[in-house]
Amino acid sequence: MSQSEESVASRPEGRDAAVRMRRITKSFDGVRVLTDVDFEVLHGEVHALAGGNGAGKSTLMKILQGVYSLDAGEIEIDGRPVQLGSIQDARAAGIGMVFQEFSLVPTLTVAQNISLGVEPLSRGGLIRDREAVRRAREVFAEMEVEVDPRAKVGDLGTAYWQLTEIAKALSQDARVLIMDEPTASLAKHEADALFELVGRLTRRGISVIYISHRMDEVYRIADRITILRDGRRLLTEALADVTPAQIVEGIVGKEIEGQMSYQQRPARDGAAEPVLELQDVTAGPRVRGVSFSVGRGEIVGLAGLMGSGRTELARVLFGIDPLGSGSIRLRGQELRLSGPQDAMAAGIALIPEDRRAQGLVLEHSVRENLTLPLLGRMRRGPLLDDRKGRSLARDLIERFSIKVADPDRPVRRLSGGNQQKVVIAKWLGTEPAVLVMDEPTAGVDIGTKSEILATIRSLADEGMAVLVISSEYPELLAVSDRVVVLREGAVHRQLDRADIPDENHLQLAVQGA
Ligand SMILES: Nc1ncnc2c1ncn2[C@@H]1O[C@H](COP(=O)(O)OP(=O)(O)OP(=O)(O)O)[C@@H](O)[C@H]1O
Ligand SMILES: [Mg+2]
Repeated sequence: MSQSEESVASRPEGRDAAVRMRRITKSFDGVRVLTDVDFEVLHGEVHALAGGNGAGKSTLMKILQGVYSLDAGEIEIDGRPVQLGSIQDARAAGIGMVFQEFSLVPTLTVAQNISLGVEPLSRGGLIRDREAVRRAREVFAEMEVEVDPRAKVGDLGTAYWQLTEIAKALSQDARVLIMDEPTASLAKHEADALFELVGRLTRRGISVIYISHRMDEVYRIADRITILRDGRRLLTEALADVTPAQIVEGIVGKEIEGQMSYQQRPARDGAAEPVLELQDVTAGPRVRGVSFSVGRGEIVGLAGLMGSGRTELARVLFGIDPLGSGSIRLRGQELRLSGPQDAMAAGIALIPEDRRAQGLVLEHSVRENLTLPLLGRMRRGPLLDDRKGRSLARDLIERFSIKVADPDRPVRRLSGGNQQKVVIAKWLGTEPAVLVMDEPTAGVDIGTKSEILATIRSLADEGMAVLVISSEYPELLAVSDRVVVLREGAVHRQLDRADIPDENHLQLAVQGA
């Protein structure tokens, strides 16, 4: 079957294409990242775009958004050929983007942000503001969500930023919305609300292109899926016609076995030998009297709702935020952390939640980023030993299958998931005694996810004490020997892995049962 026949076959009857991209080809600096990609989205369709880290999803979407030019290929919108030379062109053609890295101005109100970039409504600031608020109310009413248009964006949570982005796109008459990993930093009920909104929008004929590494979400909201592998289209299918295993195999290129199920690890001598001990740790308003310990070779999962104090606790352990009262001991020694430098010197590493902001120097090379935490150790006189640095970077790139053409290129040029791998790899290169990971696999593809989980297990096997924060229950259950449930900043429960029969059980514990 030829490619075009196949895409016709998997297209629902009687619906026209809102977007049709044909034979799209794109290179960066002579490196091919997209080859002859066909991609089509129907009116009112949710079309999932999937593929491994670096497969070319964001690049294809940035071409549709007018951010990147294409080297070859054609784009039609509503059956008409278009040239999308700029973001303005794409916007005029009805393409809207809900950015993963948001484009909003935090110091302005919701209404002002929505009106930003639209024609000025009037010269007098006041009237313009009133008009902006009216307009914002209108769009939010259409979306059937409640957001205060006068609230300052910087004071709102991620879910509201997203709603504001969507409102902004809709008020610019977007007919096609591109969502690139929209739920990455949403709580479960916020993600549910987003899915309901997507349902309402598509019933009105708006099309959604949905990029996600989370299989359950894709099944829940998408009509069809297109999988890219190494810059080529592998398949386009109705979700009803493919199994999750087929999708995973399509994305990863091979079957992955067993990584998501818990593996009893060889005798944890750690349980007897605590490495990290928290006693009545209290800090800021969000961490209240937390006590637990992590043993040598043990993996402890930290579960809890958004706002339960998990990230705040991690920040205290890494010396970012000050300890109010209580004590933190490492191998019996009480720690006084006046900053991350102290934590690192003591042998604690943190893989932060907000990796792009806290974990990377985007303009520096992949190699420099990878070797940054090791500077102290490799310094020879005032200069970093260059050869050692190179070989270490090469090792880490290989071990974590980081997709990079040249380690001397800026890390900014890597795909989102590959940037995450750099952050994880660089900390693991330091071989800390205690490793704290905040949402370690957010944004990484399903193949890499199992590699990361396997790495966490083998580090623990070597004796590292690991604390994993994750909102994904399957992931927590796959690695944790014990789970500590936080609730409103305090330890609500401590559960042995053996006492957690399934995901539902953990979810109930997290919700306070
Ligand atoms: N501005 C750029 N300059 C050079 N190379 C780039 C640029 N943007 C992307 N690339 C490369 O293009 C390839 C595809 O990247 P892209 O961001 O499209 O992947 P992706 O499928 O979105 O991955 P992820 O799931 O990690 O977000 C990668 O190898 C990446 O390094
Ligand atoms: Mg991407």
